[in-house]
Amino acid sequence: MNILITGAGGLLGREAAAVLAPRHKVTALTSWELDITDPDRVRQAVQRLAPEVVLNCAAFADVDACESERDRALAVNAAGPGNLALALARYGGKLIHISTDYVFDGQKPPPAAYTEEDAPNPLSWYGKTKLAGENAVKEVLENHAIVRTAWLYGRHGRGFLNLLIDLTVKRRLAEIRVVEDQFGTPTWAWRLAQQLARLIEADARGLFHATAEGWCSRYELARFFLEQMGIDCRIVPCPSTEFPTPAVRPKNSILENKGLKDAGLNLMRDWQEDMAEFAAKFREQLLSLSKADDKPSKNLGDI
Ligand SMILES: NC(=O)c1ccc[n+]([C@@H]2O[C@H](COP(=O)([O-])OP(=O)(O)OC[C@H]3O[C@@H](n4cnc5c(N)ncnc54)[C@H](OP(=O)(O)O)[C@@H]3O)[C@@H](O)[C@H]2O)c1
Repeated sequence: MNILITGAGGLLGREAAAVLAPRHKVTALTSWELDITDPDRVRQAVQRLAPEVVLNCAAFADVDACESERDRALAVNAAGPGNLALALARYGGKLIHISTDYVFDGQKPPPAAYTEEDAPNPLSWYGKTKLAGENAVKEVLENHAIVRTAWLYGRHGRGFLNLLIDLTVKRRLAEIRVVEDQFGTPTWAWRLAQQLARLIEADARGLFHATAEGWCSRYELARFFLEQMGIDCRIVPCPSTEFPTPAVRPKNSILENKGLKDAGLNLMRDWQEDMAEFAAKFREQLLSLSKADDKPSKNLGDI
């Protein structure tokens, strides 16, 4: 299949390109190569490359920065997918668009999970713009799949797991405090990329939740990951009020992969199984990245 990946320099985009390239004709474009907020460039790229599938991994995914850079968030997360959908409606082709657990308000008491049938009600500007992106796609292009995921980690990201390594290995803190009242499911970007390949190859359409199986709090995630990495540190649970952030995050963003299961397409595994495999495979790389990178660490509320 002829596949175009947008946002191909990001955490998920890089994994998706690596998984899809051996099996398909893949053009993977970074933000420098294709800015999805530019409707003319998007139209030209779709016309020239004639992809059967566009996998949109491009996003302004810094949840807190979205609160202060509202226009940019709206352009990338809402108008961008709309531009892709319009171009595909004109020239033909399908859009697989990635969205987020942050479209929900998290009012369900954990461990109750959100399915595709639950009504979204985003709390943050990021969540609002991502929901607007979903709607922009639905409005103009029937041939689409929207895939909501959550709490992504992987080799190429600079997220929560890297922050834990920074604090414990680089800054050698003997104790760190991690919020215990936010619940969700850590999801390995590589596994999600496998799931996206399955959706593409099955020509699936509609709305799908795609996270690892099971759930945990941020605190439980930190404990499990550091244990798998063999890093010794005291982790102390604390309420999220200790780490006020610009964006309000849902307390519960556990998703159920109901659509994938109903369609017989669910490839997602238990989060602990995946994280253990991830840590075993990439332990040395993660530790050396942390040593090489001397950027100041963010605090643990900024996740
Ligand atoms: N990370 C998570 O925990 C998480 C959770 C739920 C859902 N998601 C969703 O998963 C998808 C992938 O996220 P990710 O974690 O891979 O994010 P990421 O690492 O930040 O990657 C996003 C990529 O999009 C690119 N981009 C930004 N603006 C663009 C534009 N105007 N045109 C083209 N590309 C642009 C970025 O390039 P630059 O770096 O050059 O700006 C970056 O390479 C997103 O839809 C996100 O909303 C992520």
